[in-house]
Amino acid sequence: MTTDSSPGAAPSDALPRSATVAVIGAGTMGAGIAQVAAQGGHAVLLYDNRPGAASDAWQAMHDQFDKRIARGRVTAEQRDAVLARITACDDLNALADAQLVIEAIVEDLAIKQQVFRDLEALCGAETLFATNTSSLSVTALAASLADPGRMAGMHFFNPAPVMKLCEIVAGRASRATTLATLEATATAWGKVAVRVTSTPGFIVNRVARPYYTEAMKVLEEGGSDIATLDALLKEAGGFPMGPFALTDLIGQDINYAVSHSVYAAYYQDQRFEPSLIQQSLVEAGHLGRKSGRGFYDYSEGAIPPEPQTCTASGSPREIMLHGTPGPWGTLVERLAHAGIDVIRVASDDEACLECEGLRLYLSDGRTATQRAFESGHADTLVFDLAFDYAATPRLGIAAADQAEETALGKAAALFKQAGITLSPLDDIAGLIVMRSVAMLTNLAADAVHKGVCSAEDVDRAMRAGTNYPAGPLQWGREIGLAHVVATLTRLEGVYGDGRYRPSPWLVRRVLTS
Ligand code: NAI
Repeated sequence: MTTDSSPGAAPSDALPRSATVAVIGAGTMGAGIAQVAAQGGHAVLLYDNRPGAASDAWQAMHDQFDKRIARGRVTAEQRDAVLARITACDDLNALADAQLVIEAIVEDLAIKQQVFRDLEALCGAETLFATNTSSLSVTALAASLADPGRMAGMHFFNPAPVMKLCEIVAGRASRATTLATLEATATAWGKVAVRVTSTPGFIVNRVARPYYTEAMKVLEEGGSDIATLDALLKEAGGFPMGPFALTDLIGQDINYAVSHSVYAAYYQDQRFEPSLIQQSLVEAGHLGRKSGRGFYDYSEGAIPPEPQTCTASGSPREIMLHGTPGPWGTLVERLAHAGIDVIRVASDDEACLECEGLRLYLSDGRTATQRAFESGHADTLVFDLAFDYAATPRLGIAAADQAEETALGKAAALFKQAGITLSPLDDIAGLIVMRSVAMLTNLAADAVHKGVCSAEDVDRAMRAGTNYPAGPLQWGREIGLAHVVATLTRLEGVYGDGRYRPSPWLVRRVLTS
């Protein structure tokens, strides 16, 4: 299991509490970072080049604390202690004695570089510089300095006081001691600090891309509708929000811009290809909650769409389990617990459930239609991945084109007895949860393969930065890396465009496990 302890830096590497921290840019992120540093016990100087912006941000923090005091979350004493440590300033010269300066200004390379040059002329040689940039190269930003070794990225997530993750981004010239100090300092501030090299998207904005784009691809191909796909990823996949609801919350324009910039930055690697459906939403001005419409309609009186469910027909009481189930063993236990007789049939073939003439397989990137064709058994179904088969309230399922029309109803009747609602999907390769998780695992592996971060840190980052139910590598191991690679390989066979090519890192682990 992974832990939140910091592997690379000792607590003693952290800036002493007596050190002054300066934050440049008093917008959304700068104000949040100033609060985090002040809560960490430092005197904080908050500077913005727009006169009055820093004191407005201080006042906004005060108002925010007051709301939390009214809800009983913090005390007036705690508010006063934190805010007394934050000084708003309109003069850059006030920052001369800071030991760490964190920049969170407008996302513009030339403007940020100028700020760092000004800071280098102003501050002592020991002062460390950090940038909160999401999308610019830390290496390029640091290149404007005479001593680029003193600088690295500290990428906080919004809202900074709440989100646990801080990516410590190493530019090419960042000194080891700079990185160790920033990592230990972020950890001392209560953050999960992970190390990453300066590559587009760092960890989270790179590895998370397929969570959005796979669902949009399935939607584009008519695999299902937004409500069903969201429900499956949330209820069966265990993700905190479905991708359509989540991108409506983030803003379709913002999410599309990140996807597009990561895709461009990796020279059009198909793994990162953005979605044309999302592009058209942006073109239409359907930006999500903020514009009243995105994938969903937020206008007054609009009725949210319901996920599709299969209507149960019959009440089968017996199943045969052929072979040994992989990650879905608890599904069989759950059916047995619901009073279904499970007859176990020893077999070296791939595990499947048989029930009233139906054969049900876990999705492995093959369609049910292909399986039915290969086996000659028409009534074949494939079911989707669930994070926890013992508890999932919903499961995706697809029937072969050759299957009888009654097949889904019979399967729904079986699973209903164990409290599981089936949602029908078109017979699309990899269904939705399986292909999304396989791709997340693959991109996490790709980041490790290319030396962007450690295997441990990719999982820590994705858990703390996105609240996924498991780190993607750990999740892939629980499914079985061989199953993940087989799924990706078959998807690659279907699409043939390089998007699903398995990472060599994964393939080697399969060959040696
Ligand atoms: P924002 O627009 O809310 O705030 C930027 C602030 O910087 C403004 O108050 C502006 O007056 C000030 N500013 C602009 N140029 C300046 C200069 N030359 N000197 C001093 N102050 C200057 O922007 P936000 O969202 O806080 O983003 C800031 C940085 O954080 C960007 O690099 C962004 O990529 C990054 N970031 C943003 C996240 C988000 O969710 N908003 C998440 C993580 C990183």
